[in-house]
Amino acid sequence: MSEKKLKFNSKTIHGGQSPDKAYGAVMPPIYQTSTYAQTTPGGHKGFEYSRSGNPTRAALESSFASIESGDYGLAFASGLAAMDAVIKLLNPGDEVISTNDLYGGSYRIFKQIFEKYGIVFHFVDMQNVDAIKAKINDKTSLVWVETPTNPMMNIIDIKAVSKLAKANDILLAVDNTFATPYLQRPLEMGADIVMHSATKYLGGHSDVVLGALVVKDKDLADKLYFIQNASGAVCGPMDSFLTLRGIKTLHVRMQRHCENGKAVAEYLKQHPKIENVYWPGFEEHLNHDIAKEQMHDFGGMISFIPKGASYDDAIKIVEKLRVFTLAESLGGVESLAGHPASMTHASIPKEEREKSGVVDSLIRLSVGIEDASDLINDLESAIG
Ligand SMILES: Cc1ncc(COP(=O)(O)O)c(C=O)c1O
Repeated sequence: MSEKKLKFNSKTIHGGQSPDKAYGAVMPPIYQTSTYAQTTPGGHKGFEYSRSGNPTRAALESSFASIESGDYGLAFASGLAAMDAVIKLLNPGDEVISTNDLYGGSYRIFKQIFEKYGIVFHFVDMQNVDAIKAKINDKTSLVWVETPTNPMMNIIDIKAVSKLAKANDILLAVDNTFATPYLQRPLEMGADIVMHSATKYLGGHSDVVLGALVVKDKDLADKLYFIQNASGAVCGPMDSFLTLRGIKTLHVRMQRHCENGKAVAEYLKQHPKIENVYWPGFEEHLNHDIAKEQMHDFGGMISFIPKGASYDDAIKIVEKLRVFTLAESLGGVESLAGHPASMTHASIPKEEREKSGVVDSLIRLSVGIEDASDLINDLESAIG
């Protein structure tokens, strides 16, 4: 059967994979080498130097391409290194329209690294696609979408944004970290580039930092491969191996993340001491219908605000949690809680942050795959 015809759950295991040529190893060996013997200059077996290519990384890159329904996958040292490569496609004077609610580090690389090279960034609320239209001009080269957004769980209509981007000859990149290809596959909806912090759900075990890009277009892939090699922010073979191993259980983990996410979101929603819960699975969520259409389920990421919206109450809750660990990051098997204003989103100025709802009392949960009742009991004791 052609690999492209495999369904998603089979792709996570077999997509782009074949037994190792040396001994038939079912999992690709960790080729812990920087270089490869040549019989004559250029006489090698496909690999010359591990910044340019490494067999373990190549196996991971094929898996990325397969699970995201793309043709070319690229693995990087981190999610931000993957973003760095995308922005390096642009030239001084080019403009980028980005979601206004996004990971703090993404905002930081845009504003504090690339703005000084003459790239202009606009941050808009993309829940209404017309807001993007209003910012387009002849310098607009890239639209950067995160959906669901981090940490407000806003949903952006990928098909509608893609239509707009195509009509204006603008590249569309989607950070698919929160949803993963189990829930949504942006390339199938017309996006040009999918990006991941594979550190999160793809790796899935909080033991690796790694980034991914997937594209369909050969010219775009060649430009990105050139940047990957020329700038050199590649991941090592051990990290490639760990991420590949994580991907093989992505579908079963995600199914449980979604089930537990729903249980926790519904528990929080009915709690008298909770003011607001942000989760796209609620019917009253602004773009719930779009989430239903473009996502296969609603995921395990939830944000909430305690009644009275006090910073002190939020801090007390995260300090009291015992099964949830207070930590940066998300998407691992274990449940994590975070305080975006002082942790993941601290690099966004308070004034900017609050415009998109990231107030000082907001708590973000990455709901893991433990027993849902243990998670709810933990929240119950912490909220009081
Ligand atoms: C949505 C999103 N995008 C990008 C990143 C950056 O990825 P990394 O930490 O792997 O560099 C993160 C990290 O938290 C994230 O949550």
